[in-house]
Amino acid sequence: MDNYVTGSVIRRLRESKKLTQEELAAKIAVSGKAVSKWETGQGFPDISLLEPLARALDISVIELLSGEDIQNRNPSSDMRKSRFYVCPVCGNVILAAGEALISCCGITLPPLVPETSDPEHEIRAEIAENEYYVSMDHPMTKEHYISFLAAVSDQEVQLMKLYPEQNAEARFAIRRVKKLYAYCNRHGLFEIVLPRRRR
Ligand SMILES: [Fe+2]
Repeated sequence: MDNYVTGSVIRRLRESKKLTQEELAAKIAVSGKAVSKWETGQGFPDISLLEPLARALDISVIELLSGEDIQNRNPSSDMRKSRFYVCPVCGNVILAAGEALISCCGITLPPLVPETSDPEHEIRAEIAENEYYVSMDHPMTKEHYISFLAAVSDQEVQLMKLYPEQNAEARFAIRRVKKLYAYCNRHGLFEIVLPRRRR
């Protein structure tokens, strides 16, 4: 965990819920003075209070600790809005179907913003044996390599993790795939939109 709940976060969330310090205190069985102390940085709520405090403020403990209110803006999730996260320390790849607060190795990770594939990171897709055969001409050394390829439709994400010394290639079920992604450990995330297929 990067940080513990801070007074300014408690105050902001309490005020947004239109609660007084006394009202918040009553909900979690502490004194108004205790809440006042937390908000002015003269103390922290005990760890046993984090859950009741989060509940009283209508957020999750993770949101309370991160100081961010995460709104689920896509209840009918479309996988094409998936976000990829890569940990720069351990190389972990994390996929979220919507907005999320992701942390790995103690670092809060930003969602990767894909670029259109460039000549060095050209993503080629051909149909072979009823699958997409996806390949790239890209170094696959320990220092510089494609660490995953992914095929995304509105319903699913197919993700192939790659490692140095392998070929930069993968096979994906065609289904309704609309976009292909490739992640280079040096240059970041690239995407191509597939042309519409006739059925
Ligand atoms: Fe690269």
